[in-house]
Order: sequence, then C-alpha cells, then structure tokens
Amino acid sequence: MIFSDLRHYISTLEELDQLKVIEGASCNLEIGAITEIAAFRKKCPAVLFDSIQGFEKGYRILTNFLSNRTRERLVFGVSNDLTDPEAVFHWKNKLKEFVPVEPVEVQNPPVKENVLLGSDVDLMRFPWPKWHQRDGSPYICATSSVTRDPESGFVNVGSYRFMLLGKNKIVAHIGSGHHGDVIRKKYWAKGKPCPWRFSWGKSRRSWSRRGPI
Ligand SMILES: Cc1cc2nc3c(=O)[nH]c(=O)nc-3n(C[C@H](O)[C@H](O)[C@H](O)COP(=O)(O)O)c2cc1C
Repeated sequence: MIFSDLRHYISTLEELDQLKVIEGASCNLEIGAITEIAAFRKKCPAVLFDSIQGFEKGYRILTNFLSNRTRERLVFGVSNDLTDPEAVFHWKNKLKEFVPVEPVEVQNPPVKENVLLGSDVDLMRFPWPKWHQRDGSPYICATSSVTRDPESGFVNVGSYRFMLLGKNKIVAHIGSGHHGDVIRKKYWAKGKPCPWRFSWGKSRRSWSRRGPI
C-alpha cells in the first residue's frame, strides 16, 4: 500500500484497529506518559492526541506510529507474510529499482499559504509536549529535515528531534556522523549558518486561513 499522506496513514490505522484516540491530554508530561504506557501494552496502539489542553481541536499529535511490526511493515510497504530476512531482501531489491521523482516548480504552492518571518514566528501555536520529567524542554520528533551539502550540492533528508528554546528558537539533535550533522558542520566551519527546511506532519488545510489540521 502506498500512502498519499499522513491522514491516509492515520485512517488506515483506524481501519486496522491500530489507533487509539485520546482527547483532552496535557502537553506537560501526560502525553509522554500515555505514549509510554501504550507502547508497553501488548496491543501497542498508535496514539492520536486531539483537543489537547490549551489548543483547539485539530492541533493533533500522533505517537507510537511505527512501534509495532504491523505498522513498520505497513510504512515500508512490506507484506506481513514475509519473514524478517525476506523483508530485508525485499527492500534491498526495491532500492535497486529506485528512481527519484524530479521536482516540479509551481507558482503559489499551498505550502506558502502561511508565511511568518522573524519575530512574528511563534512556534507556541503548536503543541510541544514535555515527554519526561527531567527533559530540559519540550521536544518534537520525527521531522523531515532537508539540508544541502555546500560543496557537492547533494540534498539530504533526515529525521531528527527538535528542542524548543523559545517562541522562535529551536535546536536540532543530530547524532554525530549523520549526514545532517556532517552537512551543518561544513557551513559552520566557514562561519555560516546552515540553511534548513523541515516539515512537521502534513495537512491539506492550513491552520490560520481555514482552521487547524
Ligand atoms: C522517528 C525517528 C526519529 C529520529 N530522531 C533522530 C534524532 O533525533 N536525531 C538523530 O540524529 N537521528 C534520529 N533519527 C534517525 C535518523 O533519522 C536516521 O539515522 C537517518 O538515516 C539520519 O539521516 P542522515 O544520515 O541523512 O542525517 C530518527 C529516526 C526516526 C525514524
């Protein structure tokens, strides 16, 4: 199965009874604790938090979205009938046929419907959970982070977590040696900031003009 977007994946999880929806949880430790409890349950459901305290319905957080065999197989498009080694071979062969999709440039893309710059940027519009008692700050994980190698022009995508430092300030945790880390250090070595693009989730509707996702 190929998913058209995150909503498609969520509705599939619902159909497969792999999803638990929880309304009214708090970003302060509660979402983290519920996620942890769900992860250790035998059924281990993905959890979709909605109507989070302090936020309108629609500002949602999805957790445990990969945390069991069925969901991992779903995401990677691998049949549940294959053994683990067979699944690895399946992917090895699939990658041999991989053909990247050429980008298409369009005028006025939906992604530019909401543009906030500089001090107008307010990351607090989104729910940021503090997951564990001793975390230094709230984090958001599992982003698609895009960087460009300043020497070769190679475009890289990795998934990293971000720590909230302020209304318009975050810091990325990237393991040493990951491509994203190697690339950002090349900019820093030249005394330059590393340009960065990342997406959090995916929505067809935007939050300010037509309501939340
Ligand atoms: C849900 C999820 C969260 C992740 N979070 C991080 C992270 O916070 N930091 C990190 O270095 N890698 C993280 N990873 C692993 C990297 O995305 C992965 O190793 C990737 O291949 C790194 O890409 P890169 O070598 O192109 O930088 C995460 C992966 C997943 C699936």
